[in-house]
Amino acid sequence: MRPFKLERYFAEYEFKAEWVLSASDCETLSMAELLGMAAGESLELWRELRLGYTETAGHPLLRAEVAGLYETIAADDVMIAAPEEAIFIAMQTLLTPGDHVIVVSPAYQSLYEVARHIGCGVTRWELEPERDGWRLDVGRLERLVEGRTRMLVINFPHNPTGHTLSRSELEAIVELARERGLYLFSDEMYRLLEYGRGARLPAACDLYEKGISLAGLSKAFGLPGLRVGWLATRERALLERWVAFKDYTTICASAPSEVLGIIALRSREPILLRNREIVRANLAVATEFFTAHQDRFGWLAPKAGPVAFPRWLGEETAERFCREAIDGAGVMIVPGSVFETPGDYLRIGLGRRGFRDALARLAEHLQGRFA
Ligand SMILES: Cc1ncc(COP(=O)(O)O)c(C=O)c1O
Repeated sequence: MRPFKLERYFAEYEFKAEWVLSASDCETLSMAELLGMAAGESLELWRELRLGYTETAGHPLLRAEVAGLYETIAADDVMIAAPEEAIFIAMQTLLTPGDHVIVVSPAYQSLYEVARHIGCGVTRWELEPERDGWRLDVGRLERLVEGRTRMLVINFPHNPTGHTLSRSELEAIVELARERGLYLFSDEMYRLLEYGRGARLPAACDLYEKGISLAGLSKAFGLPGLRVGWLATRERALLERWVAFKDYTTICASAPSEVLGIIALRSREPILLRNREIVRANLAVATEFFTAHQDRFGWLAPKAGPVAFPRWLGEETAERFCREAIDGAGVMIVPGSVFETPGDYLRIGLGRRGFRDALARLAEHLQGRFA
């Protein structure tokens, strides 16, 4: 597989930069904060935890908590895996060489790279920038489907644009998938971070019998270090194949992470409330900043989730601007080119507490650089 450009970029700068302005996860919690939310049974689970192997499909109580996030899903319809691992397992078990896959683009690279590596044809279904936001032409999908199309890959709320669909757009996609017998792989890593309840889409696993929902604790919960995610589907035979494949990746999740995941899911209201509030406040700060710097940036407002993908309007490339921001101001910004998308864009992350200070530092840098 080709190098994962976004992850390699993070590997180079994330732990060196003073300010990370492009993270897609929300502000994390300390162990003390998370354990402070444990009570009764979950505290007991933590105290009594023994560090043996765990069940391949995941801790039964964790699977039950995950099922509680959906309408039609039972604990037995869920397999626990690290989110990135879950993408790999799903693609490896569902696709064969010569299959065709349609992927909403720009995309988190593994959502198309694994399929390409397997030997599938990949068609990108491009989001389009409009004057003040992003748009997906849902009517175009029908023209992208081929005889060998096996899977549609969507991701809403979307990384990196922050776009989301209306419910009727999602239903139109499901209808077409159903007509053509296609799997719908729905990366819902940013679900639960909508700006209002009305914007939350139903999960693909609830809406469609061949829908697969990928989600996890990395983004909305701000707990990527747990490496806890899951796949949910009503197609049981598929779940059995995933579990069998997992014997060749990690066999089972980390035992402490599973219990910490149970604690987090049982405390989801306060954790999500806190993170949505951080995103809401940062979105206001971002809107103000990008409006004040219209000569340099084209603000394409996100509709849901913790990331945005504004346009860079400066004379040098976005890549060069990002390099100068890190070298000159210690601010890490991800250039859109790591998403292998045409045009000059920047990925901005709205989920961290230091966002306002990072933007202030960037504003100083811009003033010094372009005054
Ligand atoms: C859309 C999307 N899917 C999946 C993942 C993978 O999540 P994790 O890093 O927790 O494995 C990410 C991480 O950035 C993502 O943005």
